[in-house]
Amino acid sequence: MSVMTVEPCVKHPGCSEAPGMRGWTSADWLRHFEQRAATRPALPFERGISLSTDERRDLLPSMAIFQRGESGTGRHLLRVAEIHARAIGDVDYVPALRQFLAEENTHGAMLGAYLDTCGYPRLEQTWTDNGFRWARHLSGLEVAVSVLVTAEVIAMVYYAALRKASSCLVLRELCEQVLDDEVYHLHFQGVRLGGLQRGRSRFGHRWTTAMLTAMLEAAGRLVWSTHRAVFLRAGLPLASYRHRLHRHGAMFQRIIATEREA
Ligand SMILES: [Fe+2]
Ligand SMILES: [Fe+2]
Repeated sequence: MSVMTVEPCVKHPGCSEAPGMRGWTSADWLRHFEQRAATRPALPFERGISLSTDERRDLLPSMAIFQRGESGTGRHLLRVAEIHARAIGDVDYVPALRQFLAEENTHGAMLGAYLDTCGYPRLEQTWTDNGFRWARHLSGLEVAVSVLVTAEVIAMVYYAALRKASSCLVLRELCEQVLDDEVYHLHFQGVRLGGLQRGRSRFGHRWTTAMLTAMLEAAGRLVWSTHRAVFLRAGLPLASYRHRLHRHGAMFQRIIATEREA
């Protein structure tokens, strides 16, 4: 039985410095996600939405795309995770992954509720969402998690920009909650990737790192081209956006490396 105590979530710690997660087992992660779901505060919709006409124009279409992206079922991911978990005898990994996916869907639900309150329609599907889904289906767990993590790193930069782009209290609280969750998501996925990459040659590590960086750059450019209005409203031109993206990417690589060499 695990001796871990789930620590209270800290506001925006540096991804690699967030305390207390090193050495968490899948059972610990499962408990963390369950506890998070049970204690999540409701968004303060009673305080009202305060978006200017310009903010509605720049933010809502972008949020509708992210809302769709956060609402996936993760069917392929769960299928390859089951094969992996059976092979290594990690009985809690798939339940933890299910809870993780439920947390992502909660992000989708919060965004959906916000769009509904604004009277802005939800999307059935988006080409970015279809693209990420197609890439995740290419191969086994390592590729699926790598693609997912690329989206998570981009999400961290995006939600920080979205929070800054508006003074609406409800929207800012929504972004705070998602950002707090994403710090944990990066560790959850990084630990798994590190474990999967253990024992690989130094060349293999370099190749994997280069692939992740290239994927982040390519996907990051696509997201920029679609959501630039949000980033620009937050005072984040392309160069600064890329800088933040790769800084988060580097932090994530450190999580992988720490686990790989443990
Ligand atoms: Fe999310
Ligand atoms: Fe996430």
